[in-house]
This record gives sequence, structure tokens and C-alpha cells, in this order.
Amino acid sequence: MRYTLSSLTKPLAIAAFVGTMTIAGMFNAQAQSTSPTLYEQLGGKEAITKVVHDMILNVAADNRINHFFAKTNIPHLQMELVTQVCEGTGGPCKYTGLSMRQAHKGMHLNTADFNALVEDLQKSMDSNHVPLGLQNQLLAILAPMQPDVVHQ
Ligand code: HEM
Repeated sequence: MRYTLSSLTKPLAIAAFVGTMTIAGMFNAQAQSTSPTLYEQLGGKEAITKVVHDMILNVAADNRINHFFAKTNIPHLQMELVTQVCEGTGGPCKYTGLSMRQAHKGMHLNTADFNALVEDLQKSMDSNHVPLGLQNQLLAILAPMQPDVVHQ
């Protein structure tokens, strides 16, 4: 068999490509294993507990929505919220509370109620100096829950 330039370069090019992919893959895997989770970037359980705690204080002072919480066991709610945020942001927690649909059933919450709670959370994140990029990442995790929270 005669080796033309192209018959030699093609396998070489493919080998180089596969090699690149493998090395890129290795770098990628390394990047994934070392890049901090949102949980870590937020400062872990303690920092999340502080943000949730201050959000609840903001809710308690928020006349638009505080009536919903009149009979709520606040320490229990705080514990469930912290666990949920911990798990949702990639932390070492397992949320075992009610589903969002069950938890808010019969409350007849609307979008304005939902937005008020989000504002109270943002206020807490601001006062705890959570960078805007991280705030948006947390809100992006909570936003898809809206259909299960409102109009139940
Ligand atoms: C993404 C938004 C929300 C999330 C992630 C969320 C999460 C939770 C969680 C984890 C619980 C505890 C469930 C359990 O006890 O097992 C809960 C309960 C509760 N939520 Fe929400 N919630 C959201 C929005 C809202 C809004 C907008 C309101 C009202 C304005 C609200 C009012 C309540 C109340 C009053 C309870 C306690 C019910 C009780 O007394 O047992 N939530 N929520």
C-alpha cells in the first residue's frame, strides 16, 4: 500500500483529536470536582441558616404576607427551609419535609405573595452581603417551585 500524505495525516489528525478530547475531558472532570458548589460559595450551612433566619424576620415584619405565618411553627419552618436550600444548592442535606404543593395547599397564595417572599429573601441576602451572582443562582433554583406554591 502506498502511503499518501492524506492517508497518513488523517489517522494522525483523528488520534490528535481523540487525544485532545481525552485531555480536555480530564481537565473538565478535574474542574468539576474542584469547582465549589453554590452551597459552598454561599458559605455553607451556617451562612444559609443566617440568610433564612433573616428572611423569616423580614417576612414577620412584612404586612403583605405575615398573616399567612400566624400559626406556623417558625423554628420548624426555618429548619425545613435551610435543609431544602442546602440540598438544592448541592450541600450535604436531604430534604424530607412536605412537597411544595402539599406545604402550601389551601393557602391560595398568588404571584404577588410569592414575589413578596422573594423580596424578603433578597433583602436578607443583601444585608448578609451575598454577591448578586450567587443571589441570582439561588433564586433560579427557587423559581421553578412557583407553580407548586401559588394557586394551591
Ligand atoms: C419558592 C418559594 C417557597 C419555598 C421554597 C417554600 C418552602 C417552604 C417549606 C420548605 C415549608 C415547610 C414544609 C414542611 O413543613 O414540611 C413551607 C411552609 C410554609 N410556607 Fe412556604 N415556601 C415558599 C413560598 C411561600 C410563600 C410565597 C408563602 C406565603 C407568602 C409561604 C408560606 C408558607 C407557610 C405559611 C408555611 C407553613 C405552613 C405551616 O404552618 O405548616 N411559602 N414553605
